[in-house]
Amino acid sequence: MYGAPTMRILSGVQSSGRLHLGNYFGAIRQFVSLQDEGEAFYFIANLHALTTVSDPAAMREFTLDAALTYLAFGLDPERSVLFRQSDVPEHSELFWVLGSLVPLGHLERAHSYKDKIGKGIRPDFGLLAYPILMAADILLYAADVVPVGKDQKQHLELTRDWAIKFNQTYVPGYDPSDPNGIAGGRAGVLHIPEARIQEDTAVVLGTDGQKMSKSYKNTIDLFAPDTVIKKTIMGIKTDSTPVEQGKPTEGSGLHALLKVLAPEDEFARLDESWRAGGQGYGTYKLRLLELFHATFSEARARRVELEKDLGEVERILTRGAQKAREVASRQMDRVKQATGLGPA
Ligand code: ADP
Ligand code: TRP
Repeated sequence: MYGAPTMRILSGVQSSGRLHLGNYFGAIRQFVSLQDEGEAFYFIANLHALTTVSDPAAMREFTLDAALTYLAFGLDPERSVLFRQSDVPEHSELFWVLGSLVPLGHLERAHSYKDKIGKGIRPDFGLLAYPILMAADILLYAADVVPVGKDQKQHLELTRDWAIKFNQTYVPGYDPSDPNGIAGGRAGVLHIPEARIQEDTAVVLGTDGQKMSKSYKNTIDLFAPDTVIKKTIMGIKTDSTPVEQGKPTEGSGLHALLKVLAPEDEFARLDESWRAGGQGYGTYKLRLLELFHATFSEARARRVELEKDLGEVERILTRGAQKAREVASRQMDRVKQATGLGPA
């Protein structure tokens, strides 16, 4: 093959709960569309999920849920590699090697760690070390581009810093001002990735008007049964503004969700009538319910099909892990050679 080298894309999704509308607009949609731009590796970050999920049945269920979700939304296992993180032991191996040169202060200062501690989560080693495992995930595949939500930006900066530090430590003549050796310098063993942050995706609000998040129990799950979807949407929290009056938009989950799901021209009309008054909240909720089904019915139907043959889903993950390991084990050999863990 000639021409520009293929861009390598990599991202992971934690299997720590059922996936919701916020995950779709903030992450899944971009992952699936990116598979047309390069060689994509997507994995289910079950080792990361272990920091919050301790029930083995839930772990299996959420892992399968993530795989089914990606496949239902059109991730094509012929074009992209889909795998379970724990099926590729090199992730844990590189984690240790990198961890040996990570200053503890970097981990203690990480926002995600501080936020979780702030919420009262017990700070165990896994939670602290999480960014190192994430760096290993990325660096094993020499990813060029890592699509992530805004909340992951700092993890990507740490990954870049540690990869540069590794190269400076182990690659004689490595020049950190030309980190990937594209200006004629020596390339490192670890390739320095770029984050692709989805700046334009607004934070999707949940049924209570806060950020939609499984930790707030305010989600609309992508694949819940119809009856649950209906109950959740009809139960979105609204205030007591009378039907004939204009309604407040600030902090309204319902208004924000209509904006995300309705086509632009329809949203303009809905927004106008919302502000003018004359329609009750129930009318808007029913429209939101229709929009939900119009947007997701195809993926929901595809998932029902996929669920009929879970053996095939398992085969896709196993094949994905084989392809991932080919890349990961070659990279690990280079790391072992550079560090002296392997032969020169
Ligand atoms: P949760 O907050 O439910 O635990 P995660 O932290 O597992 O979700 O998020 C996985 C991905 O989905 C991240 O890339 C994140 O940016 C995106 N995401 C999660 N919730 C939202 C939201 N409400 N709006 C936009 N994107 C979101
Ligand atoms: N930490 C990411 C999240 O919570 C998931 C993740 C783990 C990831 N490893 C990764 C994302 C590597 C991108 C690349 O959303």
